[in-house]
Amino acid sequence: MQISISNTMEEASALAAKLIEDAVRKNPFTVLGLATGSTPLPLYAELVKACKEGLDFSRVRSFNLDEYYGLAPDHPQSYHYFMNENLFSKINIDLKNTRVPDGLAKDVPAFCKAYEEEMKAAGGVDIQVLGIGSDGHIGFNEPGSSPVSRTRLVSLTHSTIVDNTRFFANEAEVPRQAISMGIGTVMEARSCLLLAFGKNKAKAVKGMVEGGISQFCPASFLQMHASAYVFLDEDAASELQLKDYYKEIGAAR
Ligand code: GLP
Repeated sequence: MQISISNTMEEASALAAKLIEDAVRKNPFTVLGLATGSTPLPLYAELVKACKEGLDFSRVRSFNLDEYYGLAPDHPQSYHYFMNENLFSKINIDLKNTRVPDGLAKDVPAFCKAYEEEMKAAGGVDIQVLGIGSDGHIGFNEPGSSPVSRTRLVSLTHSTIVDNTRFFANEAEVPRQAISMGIGTVMEARSCLLLAFGKNKAKAVKGMVEGGISQFCPASFLQMHASAYVFLDEDAASELQLKDYYKEIGAAR
C-alpha cells in the first residue's frame, strides 16, 4: 500500500485524479471502476476540470461498484442518479460505455454473473476508485465479506444504514440491501485508489492500513493488492501509528 497524507481532501483528491488523468491520457480506452458517496466528489470535480481542459473520456469505459437494491435509476438517492449528476453528465464519457449495477434486477444472480462477465470482456478494471465505510467496508462489502466474494446481493449492517441515513428522509427509507462487486472482484483491478477524509474514517483507516488482514475490516484485504494507493487527509490519518513515517516517505516521493 502506498499511503499519501495531504493537508486537505482537495489536495488528496487532486493527487488521485492525476493518476486517473495520466492513465486516460496514455490509454484512451481505460476501464474505470467508480465509487459513490461524498468522498469521491472532489476527485470527480477534478476529472470534470480535466475534461474541460481537453482530456478526452469518450472511449473510457466504467463499471460502478454498487447500487442500492430496490432503487430505480431515476431515484435521487440511487447510485445511477449520483453518477449522472456528479460525473457522467459533466464529462464527455459515452453513457453507453458506463455501467452501474441494476437495483431493479429481477434475476439477481443472473444479473451479477453478467456484470462480472461484462467487466472481464472489457479487459478488466484498470483503476478502481474506492471510499471506505466507517466500519471498514469497501463497495458494500460489509465486515464478514469473503476475500473471494464476487458481485452479489448483500445486506447492509446497521452502522451503514445509520451512516447513510443522512442522504434519505429517515432511517426507514434506507434500502437494506445492495448489489455490490465483491472483494475478489475489486482485488482484480490493476490499481486501486482508496480515498478517506475526516475523523469519522480514522478508525477504519487504521484497521485497513495497520490492522491484521481480516474479514472484520474488509478494506484490510487491500494490503494484499500489488498496486493500492491510499489518499488521506490529516484527520483520516490521525490514528495511524506510523503516520510521520508515511509522511516522510511521501515527501521524498
Ligand atoms: C457507501 C458506499 C461506499 C462508500 C461509503 C462511504 O456505503 N457504498 O462505496 O465508500 O458509502 O461513503 P462516504 O464517502 O459518503 O463517507
